[in-house]
Formats: sequence, C-alpha cells, structure tokens
Amino acid sequence: MSKNTQTEDLNGVIRDHAEILAMQLHAQRESLFPPDADKEMRKFTSGEAAALLGVNDSYLRKLHLDGKGPSPELTPGNRRLYSVQDLADLRQLLEKTARKPGDYLPGRREGDHLQVIGVMNFKGGSGKTTTSAHLAQRLALLGYRVLAIDLDPQASMTALHGVQPEYDLPEGGTLYDAIRYDDPVPITDVIRPTYIPGLDLIPGNLELMEFEHDTPRALSQNAAGLFFFRVKEALSQVDDRYDVVVIDCPPQLGFLTMSALSAATGVLVTIHPEMLDVMSMSQFLRMTADLMDVIAESGADMSHDWMRYLLTRYEPTDAPQNRITAFLRTMYGDKVLNAPMLKSTAISDAGLTKQTLYEVDRSAFTRATYDRAIESLNAVNDEIAALIQATWGRK
Ligand SMILES: Nc1ncnc2c1ncn2[C@@H]1O[C@H](COP(=O)(O)OP(=O)(O)OP(=O)(O)O)[C@@H](O)[C@H]1O
Ligand SMILES: [Mg+2]
Repeated sequence: MSKNTQTEDLNGVIRDHAEILAMQLHAQRESLFPPDADKEMRKFTSGEAAALLGVNDSYLRKLHLDGKGPSPELTPGNRRLYSVQDLADLRQLLEKTARKPGDYLPGRREGDHLQVIGVMNFKGGSGKTTTSAHLAQRLALLGYRVLAIDLDPQASMTALHGVQPEYDLPEGGTLYDAIRYDDPVPITDVIRPTYIPGLDLIPGNLELMEFEHDTPRALSQNAAGLFFFRVKEALSQVDDRYDVVVIDCPPQLGFLTMSALSAATGVLVTIHPEMLDVMSMSQFLRMTADLMDVIAESGADMSHDWMRYLLTRYEPTDAPQNRITAFLRTMYGDKVLNAPMLKSTAISDAGLTKQTLYEVDRSAFTRATYDRAIESLNAVNDEIAALIQATWGRK
C-alpha cells in the first residue's frame, strides 16, 4: 500500500486555512461592530469630557444650558453624554474664547517641530502595540493632531483600529507603498481617518515585509540611497498636518525599525520587567547602538529629543518584578518613566474585542479594575505628553 495516499498539498491547506480565518474574522467584526462594521468611539460622561478638555464639569453644564456648542445626548437620568466629535467641537469653541491662544489646543505652535515617537524593542510581546495605540488615542482625545503608523507586518495596531488587513487592504495601502524604492506613492495616499477626530492611521499588513527584502537588493545595486531616511522623507510630506506621529515598530531590528529610528525625535523602549526580557534588552540596546553608529558614519544626524524606558505589564505585588524594576531605575535613573503601565485584565480583555481601554465602557468591568488601569494608562501617556511639551519649550 502506498504511504502517499493521505498526503495533502501543504500550500493548499495553508491557503484554505488563511481564507477561512479571514472570513471568520470578518464575520466576527461585523457582529462586534454592527451595522456597517465600522468602529465607533463610545460616548463620554460629562465628567470624562470635562477632564479631557481641562475645564470644570459645571462650566460644561453652563455651556449646555446656554445653548453654546454641541448638544450632548441626555440620558433618562438627565446625565449628559458627549460624543468624541462633540469633544472636538467643544475644544474649538473653548479655544476661541481662551485667555491665551493654545490653552485648549496643546499641539505645535509656530517654530515647534513635529514629534515622531518610535515605540520599539525587539522583544515580542513587550507591550509596543498596546502602548502605541493608547498613546495615539489619548493624545488625540487631548486635542493633538496625531498620525499613528503601524510598521509591524503583523498589523495588530491596525486591527485595534477596526481595519482587518487581509480584508480591507488587499491592494496594499501601508507605509510600504510610500517608502518603496520603485514608484513610491505620496504618503497621503495611505493615510486614513479613524473614528476619533484628530487621529489618522497608516495601517500595516504583510506587504511591509517587502521593505526588508527590497533594501538589501537596493543596497547591492547602490539604489537604496540613504535607505534609513525613507520614513523620515515620507513624513516630511505631511509635516504640517500633525503634531505627533506614533510609530508601532515590529519586534525585530530590521530595516523598517532602523528607518523608524532615524525618523524618530523620541524613542520609547517598552520593557516588561522580567529577567529574560531584560537580558534580551541588553542585546537589543547593543545592536541598536551599533546600527546607529553605522548610520551616523554616513553623516546622518542621529540625535533625538528624548529616549525613555517604559515598564509594561507591571505587577506591583510581584517581588521579582520589583527587584528588576529597582535594578533598572538604579541603572538608568530618570530615563525610566516614573509611571509604569500596570498589568490589568481590563487592558487584555479590551484587546480581545479589538479595543483599547479608552474605547470600552467602564460598566464592562468592576469599577476598581477599570479605574486602576485607566489611571495607570493616563499617567504614562501624560508623562509622555509632558516630554513632548518640554521639547517645545513649554510647561
Ligand atoms: N498592561 C497590560 N495588561 C494586561 N495585558 C497587557 C498589557 N499590555 C499588553 N498586554 C497584552 O499582552 C500582549 C502583548 O502586548 P502587545 O501586543 O502590546 O505587545 P507587542 O510588543 O506589541 O507584541 P509584538 O512584539 O508581537 O508586536 C497582548 O495580548 C496584550 O493584550
Ligand atoms: Mg505589536
């Protein structure tokens, strides 16, 4: 009897599985976010809206009673709920009557340069995507004009923003199109708005891998030019449209990450405080430094405004984690952000339904769990916002 009667065409099986998975994921998205399967931001309570705008709730109520600005939705209990668009409209209204220009618009002013924040570490699962998505959303909710770039072929940040790469991007549409060596498109062709005013996204998908393959070829043909400036050059086309760009990097130190590093004005290294992670980080730092030396030898300016470590999935009650955290803080001092991102089931559960904690409803969690997580995220993001303001010479 032939042993081969049961063999299958592996290619075919894998391809079928990919198709089935894509269809199932699409169906799941349609059931999660009906009716048009597009994501929407939840509404904010008046307290949340006031905090994001930096005013008192009583002042917001007065605006509402005076018929000024957007009309919030009223609950049966007469509580006011503001949409994310209401929030943006209120911000414009408040800014018009602000004592000083910029009181309610924290973004760039004359002479301030674009902030490009690269979130990196080649350790997989160190929290890069979670950090990038929450940072980009929080900054947009605070009134910054933000561009989030998914530079990871795995496209997790893209999925978090309601775009399913294999379904929505069959013909490309990632940053690769704008940084490729032959026929790059204008970066504006791959930028898409999100359901949060002030937040645009350049999605990712597997196509980004092409850049890792093209670059050695282009280098060998002397056609790559200063390849590590591809991202920076592409961004320069939209420099005046944004205050902050947040780049979610892939978990490897390839040409994509190097290009992001060259474009970055701020570098955030996410680190989960466990021994294996810290050991691999030492290699990451050494390799990064070597690569930056090589780039600098070609005459490129590799100076950055700031570089910080962010502790992720931190558990304050875990003794070994605390030892490692203390060790990192002793070694690197104020280069380690004060606020750690706490490990929270609220964050991982939100991720399961492809949402950030800013998108999910507080009522979906026990209050204490939600509040603890959101306070931790806000503390991290606001510390980064303060760094941004400092590079612009403010606060
Ligand atoms: N603070 C947190 N609390 C609980 N879970 C978290 C937290 N941060 C991240 N996670 C979970 O850990 C996993 C890895 O996080 P994330 O995807 O952000 O890491 P990453 O560095 O982007 O991974 P990769 O290297 O694969 O891109 C995810 O399932 C995420 O939901
Ligand atoms: Mg990731």
